[in-house]
Parts: sequence; C-alpha cells; structure tokens
Amino acid sequence: MAETTAPALLPGGFRDAEEGWPELHRIPRPAYRVPLVGDVIGSSKDTPVQDSMRLARRLGPIFRRNAFGKEFVLVAGADLAADLADEARFAKHVGLGVANLRQVAGDGLFTAYNHEPNWQLAHDVLAPGFSREAMAGYHTMMLAVAERLTGHWDRAAGAGRTVDVPGDMTKLTLETIARTGFGHDFGSFERSRPHPFITSMVGTLDYAQRLNAVPAPLAPLLLRRAGRRNAADIGRLHRIVDEVVRIRRADGGGEGDLLDRMLDTAHPESGERLSPENVRRQVITFLIAGHETTSGALSFALHFLSLYPDVADRARAEVDRVWGGAAAPGYEQVAKLRYVRRVLDESLRLWPTAPAYAREARADTVLAGEHPMRRGAWTMVLTPMLHRDPSVWGPDPERFDPDRFDAPAVRSRPPHTYKPFGTGARACIGRQFALHEATLVLGLLLRRYELRPDPGYRLRVTERLTLMPEGLRIRPERRPAPTQPQTPEGAPAD
Ligand code: HEM
Repeated sequence: MAETTAPALLPGGFRDAEEGWPELHRIPRPAYRVPLVGDVIGSSKDTPVQDSMRLARRLGPIFRRNAFGKEFVLVAGADLAADLADEARFAKHVGLGVANLRQVAGDGLFTAYNHEPNWQLAHDVLAPGFSREAMAGYHTMMLAVAERLTGHWDRAAGAGRTVDVPGDMTKLTLETIARTGFGHDFGSFERSRPHPFITSMVGTLDYAQRLNAVPAPLAPLLLRRAGRRNAADIGRLHRIVDEVVRIRRADGGGEGDLLDRMLDTAHPESGERLSPENVRRQVITFLIAGHETTSGALSFALHFLSLYPDVADRARAEVDRVWGGAAAPGYEQVAKLRYVRRVLDESLRLWPTAPAYAREARADTVLAGEHPMRRGAWTMVLTPMLHRDPSVWGPDPERFDPDRFDAPAVRSRPPHTYKPFGTGARACIGRQFALHEATLVLGLLLRRYELRPDPGYRLRVTERLTLMPEGLRIRPERRPAPTQPQTPEGAPAD
C-alpha cells in the first residue's frame, strides 16, 4: 500500500500500522484477538498503560495492539528506543492520547503538529522563560507555595492525621505553575473542594482517554453525554483562562513571567507574536502540563520515601547537611541535594508520570536495522518498560534503588535509556522547572517530617494520560529542627 499522505482524513491523527509497517506480521501481538474490538482480553479502558506493560513482559521489546480494527506498535526495549531518538530520522508523532487533547489545547506547544508554525514561534518565545535566570526568579514563589503545604501538613501532624498525598501535591503544583507562570492564585489550599479548573481538567483528560477506547466513528454516539460534559468542561477552562488574561491586561502587565512573554514578546527574528487564540491554548497547556506530571512525580517519590526509611534517612541527612539551619534554602542550594534528586530520578524511572511518547518516521527507514517503516508510520515508546529493560537496568529492574543515578552509574549507561521527559526537539520544556520544584519540596518535607506510611496501603496506579498513586496517604510527623544551626553548604561565608 502507498504511504499515508492524508493524515487529515484519519481521526485524531491516527495512522494505522497496517499502512506504515510493511513487515508488521513479524511484530508479536496478543494471541487472542476478538473480531471487531481487537485485543481487549485482559485489558481495561482505565489502565491502558499497565495493560501494555503486562503485554510487554510477555511479548518482548516491540509488540502491537489492536483496538477496534486500528493497529498500533509499541516499543519497550532500549535499543529500539535509542534508535527512535535519532532526530534526523524520527520526530514527535501527535496521535492517540495527545491528538485527543487538541480539542482543548489545539496548536498549543504540547499538542501542536510538527509542521504547525505556532510550535516554533511559541517555543522560541517561551524557552527563555525556563532559563537559569528565570528559574532563579521562580524560586521564592515556589517556597511561598510550599509553605502553604507545610502549614496544612503541620495541622495534620499536630492532630496525628494522615494526608492525601496526590491531592495535596496537585494543589501545590497547580498553585506553583499558576503563580510563577501567570501571577494567579487559585486558592487551592483554602478550598474544601478542588478548584473548578482541576475538575474540568480532569474531565477533559478522562474524556481524551475514553476516546481511545471507542471506535472513532461511533464516538459521537457512544459518548454523547460525555461529549456534552466535555464541551462544558472546555468552555469552563476557556472562561477561567480568559479571566487570568483579562486581569493581567487590566493590571498593565506583570513582572516578566510566562504570561507576559505570551502576551507581549515578539519572536526575536521574525517579530511575530502569539495570537490571542494561541495565548489561550498556551495558558491551558502550561497550566495542565505544568502541574499534573510533577504532582505525580512528587507523590510517587513520597510513596517510596515512606516505604524505605533508610533512603529517607540518607536523603534527610543530606538536606540537614546542605541546608543547615537556614530557614529557607537559597536557589543554588536546591541543586546541591544530589541524593534527593536521585530519589526523584529513580521514582520517575519506575513510574514516569508521562508514561509514553510517540515517534514517527520522517522518511522511509528501518527501525533498529530490523523493522521497515514507511514515512509517517509511528510507534509509541512505553517509558515504564524502557526504564525496566534488564539489559540496561540489570536483572532486578523493579527494585527501587536511587544509587542507580549516582554519577558513575549514569555515565556507564548508554544514551537514550532514561526518558521521563521525552526526547528531541519536542522534549519537555519544563524539565528544569519540574526538577527544581520537586527537589525543593522533597527537601522541605524531609527536613520537617518523618514520613510514616499508611500500613494498609498497597500501591495502585491510576491513569488519566498521566500516572498517579491512587489513594496514597502518609502520616507526617513533625521532627525537631536541626539543633545546631550550621552554615549551610553554598551559603556565603560571613
Ligand atoms: C515531572 C514532571 C514532568 C514530566 C514527567 C514531563 C514529561 C513530559 C514529556 C514526556 C513530554 C514530551 C511529550 C511528547 O513527546 O509527546 C513533555 C512535553 C512538554 N512538557 Fe513536560 N513534563 C513535566 C513537567 C512539566 C512542567 C513543569 C511544564 C511547564 C512548566 C511542562 C510543560 C511541557 C510542555 C509545554 C511540553 C511540550 C513541549 C513541546 O512539544 O515543545 N512539563 N513533558
């Protein structure tokens, strides 16, 4: 069959693997396939990632799945993922889950097709918003939000109560991106119920995931009520964002944050600016992409810290040593928490909260010298399994061990084996932001509390495009402040 040249005709940017992989029959697939519906046996619409992880364990480093007659290929092995990282031959593919989000985020940075001019424009205008200098400017605001969290946890600790970890991390990360990026306060910690932005966002993410689980032509019929709710959710997101922009305009500008960049900064070469419609899409994109994944990353890290007290003790000792008695750590002191960062890296290895990214062939090629692909053919890298490939991570990849990320261990691994932030030109623009925020918050929490696990808790992972430890609760216990105020490492000497 000729290569696909009319992606516009295919729902949600979907291109069937039958069209793009001439030797598809060589790629393993589940044994029992139900006519019309596909590979549904043993899988659930709520857990596509974890179902795919189980399949990868059975079928190997590359395999395929079928949903309602649509065939797609998944990659779980390190050699294949490394080849897909070759930017000369492959690029981001906007398909499956990501394409469904275009209803809400259009050609915003995350959901833009590679050929859409607004991607490069927004990328160039917004990238300086993540420079070292910009990041240092966000640090104080991140600290202020973290204080709201510790205020809340102090009250729980005083009463001997447990805390809702994913709920609290979501409040924290939403407030952080809203304030640092947009000068906006959603008041999450003061509310008894989630902010309507969160409710609508969860609604649209769930809907986007559900769209994958029904045949596209039947979606308007099967998901009629859900579709109406989704339209209402999108309308609410637009209204919230329009209000944020209106306030900023009324204030006559902010202090040079992301929103100022979106509204006022012209492209350094072309002089072009983002259109009002595109600004709206970028604000939604950043509010969603900027908090959901970091919230999950913090939650998984806290789960592991509560489960492994020896790891928590070592991390805490580092915080005490590096931050000393300083009431609030300075910007430079966060990157010095090397071990805390390893805890985060290892949590993102086992549970990369953005669990997959898709790559498409720029021209006819052969993947890893074995699997021919036509131009436009695509595959999805299943990051949690890439991060468990025994040829890279050893015979016991399920074991939580932050020392996998000490410098010699990192140097000894081949490139492109660790991809929680995606790859290439379309990799995460907010990586440093997320790492700074998460390391800072873990440091603050470790310093202030012992993290006692809920004895009955067994890890369950929920999926709504991103991953989250469902129902995770921890009992924080206040610990005394370091008795000897030490000179923190990196602080200027008096
Ligand atoms: C632990 C936290 C985070 C994780 C695991 C994560 C993961 C990812 C991944 C895997 C991609 C690539 C997706 C693809 O190839 O389809 C991505 C892209 C992106 N992320 Fe993140 N992210 C995180 C935090 C953030 C933050 C804090 C922001 C914003 C402040 C952000 C904004 C974005 C944007 C705008 C893109 C699209 C970039 C482009 O295509 O040019 N992310 N992220």
